[in-house]
Amino acid sequence: MNGPAPSDPIDHILRTTRSVRRRLDFDRPVPDQVIFDCIDIAEQAPTGGNQSTRRWLLIRDPEVKASLADIYRRAGGDWVIEQSAALKGTGHPNEKSMTSAAHLAAHLQNVPAMVLVTIWGTHDGTGRPGLFDSVIQSAWSFCLALRTRGLGTAWTTMHLNAAEEVSKLLGIPDGVTQIVLLPVAYTIGTEFREADRIPARQITWIDRWGNTREGNTDGPTTMADGPGATVEIEIAARADAIWELVSDINLPGRFSREFDGAEWLDEPGPGARFVGHNHSKGLGEWSTTSFVTVWEPERAFAWAVNDLESPAARWRFEILPQAGSTRLRFSTTLGPGISFLTFFIDQNPERESEIIADRQEQHRRNMTRTLAGIKSLAEADPD
Ligand SMILES: Cc1cc2nc3c(=O)[nH]c(=O)nc-3n(C[C@H](O)[C@H](O)[C@H](O)COP(=O)(O)O)c2cc1C
Repeated sequence: MNGPAPSDPIDHILRTTRSVRRRLDFDRPVPDQVIFDCIDIAEQAPTGGNQSTRRWLLIRDPEVKASLADIYRRAGGDWVIEQSAALKGTGHPNEKSMTSAAHLAAHLQNVPAMVLVTIWGTHDGTGRPGLFDSVIQSAWSFCLALRTRGLGTAWTTMHLNAAEEVSKLLGIPDGVTQIVLLPVAYTIGTEFREADRIPARQITWIDRWGNTREGNTDGPTTMADGPGATVEIEIAARADAIWELVSDINLPGRFSREFDGAEWLDEPGPGARFVGHNHSKGLGEWSTTSFVTVWEPERAFAWAVNDLESPAARWRFEILPQAGSTRLRFSTTLGPGISFLTFFIDQNPERESEIIADRQEQHRRNMTRTLAGIKSLAEADPD
């Protein structure tokens, strides 16, 4: 492996710079110089046309901080405080982050300093790069520089719902865009943990949208690389309704032209088996036994085909709640076990990567149809 070891202190900072809210130390003063040093570091970030257009507002005056905190609460903070009270003790996946966000909303005025990051310019709506992308990386460098010095912050944007009021309060002229408000304080303790994120291999497409590889990406695709495909769709329905659909083994397959039905051999759950029946023009009819590898209601359902140790393929549904909707991901990994695919490759070894690419394309088309079908069913009956 190239590059620094996982224990590298810089990697550690990059991995563990979290949104800090409940562990902001309101009582420990923050010297000016620390903040200016962090802004100097942040100003080293790239900027379109190499222009100096970022402007930083450092807010220290207790009255101004209190007014800004009031605006923040009116613009959304009060709603967060209410939501957090409603979620208290429910074990809801958002309970922890809501409690944390509510704590900040309620106490924002108490932070030793606030930094509002802005940039000269307004977005023209063309989608051309050059405004947000000349400032966001710099604001994040500022957050990282704080972290290396034992300080913390949280990326907050709620006040942008009342950006004009903020401009009025702080005297920000027309033609300046506000990007983020960063509360700044020393942190209570300096150890933070990595967050739970989707692994890079599952969200990085190789050479074509949706194509994945578990192994080497440098060179033509081989079965040994663990090639796969992922498709995604946004559904205006709740995770429980989508789970009902994806966990019904007879349903998702219906949208695939090769599928003729399936039945459980065991009670559905981790380790359970089901048999699926398929057909295709070239291959006739065949059945496969699948083994459930992941069964997490309302979150994930995955199975391995034919053989747990060396499956012909692995399949996975993942349900990701987002604000106001749900993202459904459907993925497959081909091989390494024996299948029609490996049979074709054995017959035509010189065409291995081409055969794999065709199969990936075919799967993506089928899987896209499947997700569209699930979406239409889920949205027809959102409750
Ligand atoms: C664009 C954006 C806007 C955000 N706005 C707020 C906000 O207004 N208030 C807040 O408390 N957190 C806000 N956050 C922080 C996220 O809630 C936070 O990143 C998320 O909970 C994950 O936690 P982590 O940063 O510790 O990984 C925002 C983050 C981003 C990227």
